Amino acid sequence: MTAATRSLLALAVISASSSLLTTGAAAAANASTDPVAVGSWVKKTQNTGVIPIHMLHYPGDKLLMIERAHYINPVMPGIDPTTNQSFTNSGDGFTQAQYDSHTKGATAQWFQGNLNFNDFLTDSAEYNLGVNNYTLIDRQFPLNESLSKNTGYAFCSGHAQLADGTYAVVGGDQFWNRLFKGVNRTSVGLRDIRVATASNATGPASITKVAMINNPMNYGPDDPNIVNLGRWYPSVVLMPNEDALIIGGQKEYFNPTVASANYPSYEIFHPTTATTEVPVNVTLLQTKFPINLYPVAYVRPQSGDIWMQVYDDVVLLDVTKKTETPAPGLDLTKQNGLMGRNFPFVGTNFIPMMSYRDNYQMNAWFCGGVNTTSPTGQPMPRDGNQWYSNCPTCSGSARCNWIDVEKGTAWADEDMPIARSQPTAVNLPDGTVVLVSGSGTGHQGGVYGQGQATNPVLEAVIFDPSVPKGQTGRWTVAAQAPTGRHYHNSATLLEDGTVVTGGGDSQNGADQLTLCPYDQTLDIFSPPYMAIANRPSFVLPLATTAGSYGQQIVLQFTSAVATTIRQVSLIRYASGTHSTNLDQRHVELQIVKYGSDKLLVTLPPNANVAQPGNWMVWAVDSRGAPVMKAGTINLRASNPATNAVWNEADTVAAPTFGAKPLVGSGGVPPSPQAGSVTKASGAAAAVASSLSLIVGGLGALLFNF
Ligand SMILES: *[C@@H]1O[C@H](CO)[C@@H](O)[C@H](O)[C@H]1NC(C)=O
Ligand SMILES: *[C@@H]1O[C@H](CO)[C@@H](O)[C@H](O)[C@H]1NC(C)=O
Ligand SMILES: *[C@@H]1O[C@H](CO)[C@@H](O)[C@H](O)[C@H]1NC(C)=O
Ligand SMILES: *[C@@H]1O[C@H](CO)[C@@H](O)[C@H](O)[C@H]1NC(C)=O
Ligand SMILES: *[C@@H]1O[C@H](CO)[C@@H](O)[C@H](O)[C@H]1NC(C)=O
Ligand SMILES: *[C@@H]1O[C@H](CO)[C@@H](O)[C@H](O)[C@H]1NC(C)=O
Ligand SMILES: *[C@@H]1O[C@H](CO)[C@@H](O)[C@H](O)[C@H]1NC(C)=O
Ligand SMILES: *[C@@H]1O[C@H](CO)[C@@H](O)[C@H](O)[C@H]1NC(C)=O
Repeated sequence: MTAATRSLLALAVISASSSLLTTGAAAAANASTDPVAVGSWVKKTQNTGVIPIHMLHYPGDKLLMIERAHYINPVMPGIDPTTNQSFTNSGDGFTQAQYDSHTKGATAQWFQGNLNFNDFLTDSAEYNLGVNNYTLIDRQFPLNESLSKNTGYAFCSGHAQLADGTYAVVGGDQFWNRLFKGVNRTSVGLRDIRVATASNATGPASITKVAMINNPMNYGPDDPNIVNLGRWYPSVVLMPNEDALIIGGQKEYFNPTVASANYPSYEIFHPTTATTEVPVNVTLLQTKFPINLYPVAYVRPQSGDIWMQVYDDVVLLDVTKKTETPAPGLDLTKQNGLMGRNFPFVGTNFIPMMSYRDNYQMNAWFCGGVNTTSPTGQPMPRDGNQWYSNCPTCSGSARCNWIDVEKGTAWADEDMPIARSQPTAVNLPDGTVVLVSGSGTGHQGGVYGQGQATNPVLEAVIFDPSVPKGQTGRWTVAAQAPTGRHYHNSATLLEDGTVVTGGGDSQNGADQLTLCPYDQTLDIFSPPYMAIANRPSFVLPLATTAGSYGQQIVLQFTSAVATTIRQVSLIRYASGTHSTNLDQRHVELQIVKYGSDKLLVTLPPNANVAQPGNWMVWAVDSRGAPVMKAGTINLRASNPATNAVWNEADTVAAPTFGAKPLVGSGGVPPSPQAGSVTKASGAAAAVASSLSLIVGGLGALLFNF
């Protein structure tokens, strides 16, 4: 959508023509009240069962969500339901005084209770947006303290969609022990490899442990040395051959001062046999400790190897040859005080739509993060931890950095209209990208009562890569969300073109009147295209629901709108957490032939471009209006690859309006700003020196290995 169309839409919204608000009049009461807002928001008030810190998206808009299991007693406020004792400084982070103050007045609404402890203790639920209801998932945490059963929290895991549409959920939270209904429940999630399945006709949603991470020393399950294995905050990437690559993480809960907590390696998980391969050490993960968690990694579309970014540096991993090759990294010393890109200084990651038109140029973007040079922002020690655990007074940054992962020799930079730390980026079907949630001040988390992030950024911001840098419409500030969502927020694109947001720990007392520390609601953002009347519709389900690479398929519309279609694309069903989403990918498909009510299109050429698994199928018309509901296709090399039959008599002339330009997304090489010089990769010393520049004497405390 052009900026002009967008302003027209904004005007249409001002004129309060309720028929244009596809969200409907009933929801309007909770929509943004900003009269010039671009797009609109609705708050879903139905409890989602758990806090959506991790969000995994399945066909049918089922959301599998994972939280840090918590319990608040709805029957006896102020009393820990598992012990019947007053809250002390519990795992929930409350002191009795905090609890008492928060159960009074305006904040009491937040303590109506998490129902998830009524029958069993859990960390997860499936929310079905179609019927607005959740189902808790009984994880059957073990009843005693033996590590043997070792079925643990999936909170703090990494995840990726597998080829069959389930998700691998790997690693997770540290050991804990809680009395629940009179029995000790034990959880160690650090070593689990699980498969998460959505509900289906035969059963409810499940998260099932299928394996443990590789145990090269063959420690017994209760061997004390088992603590030498563990992946807290790992990343998972599905590879073209359908294996999952598990990367990094720590052996214990964030321990930035003890190098032995580091687990700087990757390992391969074979989903079909539920087996793992011996870990391979990665020097970049070693040198960037402790800021090496949730590394951002993608399969490169041309090379098929893994592009992995950690803090400010990049390597290419060839998992067959077990090699690690330096690639251009970001010179943070030229970024005006920007901290490293990954957790805990999270800038969100995304890839604008890739297209057959420029041979799938993939640009890796990072936006937002933490600025340590602002007048308010100096890193501060927190609770005895080192400075890099937190910077509660640091400003968010507006900075984005990006590079072409195949041909790029330099990172480009560009600022968003609003600074924020820990936002979440979501690819939209029209080729734009929306950034939601995050914090204006501070970053990261902990538990309630530790003020770490404040000033929630409510505005959605829409990035349109087809508008050249510096021109109106490249960045558009959109409507304000109903809910501030700080650290631990999540978001995903839904099948109707809206975006769902959830999660977010509100740690700071200053925000407690308006922000729930345990928010179990979801908000829905309707991008401006949702207000366009008469959007096109597919006949669903699609004729081809399982496709293979390079195959031609037919997309049938419910009416004769095919020649209005400007763009057909796939967006992967994705999973995200902690402002990081490695699954998310948007690939434009080539339209081969037009009929009046159907299109013949070609699926992506190979699994490097589009990894195996479930994808949403989108078509967008010349007005920028996406189909009312995306189709779903499972893409796998093993699926039947028979081209659809096309009756030549159905062919009509192609429209003349042509495709949207790929400016800034592909086609045009990055033009780095002056000063954005790319440094040589792999130099730990460069990181240390850039950081000591920022924090002066504290730099010496940085690395301890
Ligand atoms: C708006 O949200 C409030 C709670 O925040 C809820 O009580 C009310 O029912 C909602 N209204 C609509 C129309 O959804
Ligand atoms: C706590 O007290 C309630 C009400 O008396 C009781 O039903 C429950 O079993 C007690 N729980 C524990 C863990 O003792
Ligand atoms: C929601 O699901 C629960 C079971 O998980 C069920 O008891 C309840 O009736 C459902 N509510 C609606 C509105 O479907
Ligand atoms: C823990 O429970 C399992 C059964 O769930 C039992 O086999 C095992 O002996 C128990 N371990 C301890 C230390 O009580
Ligand atoms: C539960 O675990 C705690 C901590 O190890 C222990 O002190 C307590 O005795 C256990 N309680 C039960 C009922 O097993
Ligand atoms: C349905 O869900 C069950 C339980 O999660 C799972 O075991 C099964 O494989 C699923 N079936 C299909 C066809 O996905
Ligand atoms: C990997 O690194 C660990 C230390 O982190 C070391 O003990 C181990 O020998 C290394 N493995 C290889 C194959 O180099
Ligand atoms: C950080 O804040 C300072 C002061 O406002 C500003 O000059 C600088 O550009 C900011 N840097 C980043 C990366 O946001």
